[in-house]
Amino acid sequence: MYNFIRYVSLNEGKSPKTLVQTKLPYAKDDLEPSMSEDTINYHYGKLYKAYVTRFNDGEGDADFNEAGAFLHDIYFTQFQKPSRSNDPDGPASEFINKHYKSFDKFKDAFEKEAMKIQGSGWAYLARDGKIKTIKNHEIKMDIVLLIDWWEHSFQFDYGSDKKSYLRNQWKIINWNIISSRIGLAR
Ligand SMILES: [Fe+2]
Repeated sequence: MYNFIRYVSLNEGKSPKTLVQTKLPYAKDDLEPSMSEDTINYHYGKLYKAYVTRFNDGEGDADFNEAGAFLHDIYFTQFQKPSRSNDPDGPASEFINKHYKSFDKFKDAFEKEAMKIQGSGWAYLARDGKIKTIKNHEIKMDIVLLIDWWEHSFQFDYGSDKKSYLRNQWKIINWNIISSRIGLAR
């Protein structure tokens, strides 16, 4: 998988293993208004960074911190500047249509699954086409598209309105990245 290959290569051959925070492939204010610069500063700049730092410093639960860093890498590398419709194209579109008939039906199905999450977690589209959830943090090798469902992802910009948060994330998904993860990129 695209992100996982990079993640493994960052860690290969290092003993003890050291994590590196992935650089953002866009400016901190590029995702406004779907995701504010304040949210990026806090979520990327402090929380994601803390998982990396705590892991490297041997603080807290190593598996938890590593999984937190892993998931935030996948999450933050899948966005781009917002555009109005931003419907999927290419392999990502084919994949979604194959499993859900249409982008609208996929978005409905994704929202339904994500809203079932109790407490902190993640919702994702998997390589087998299913929408799956993660409780807290966990390393999963089959992630194609990932939405952070911890409160810190939406509270600054959307309060407790998780549905608005999710609906606005569709405007900033970089579908070329999703296609790469599906493994069908041309
Ligand atoms: Fe997060």
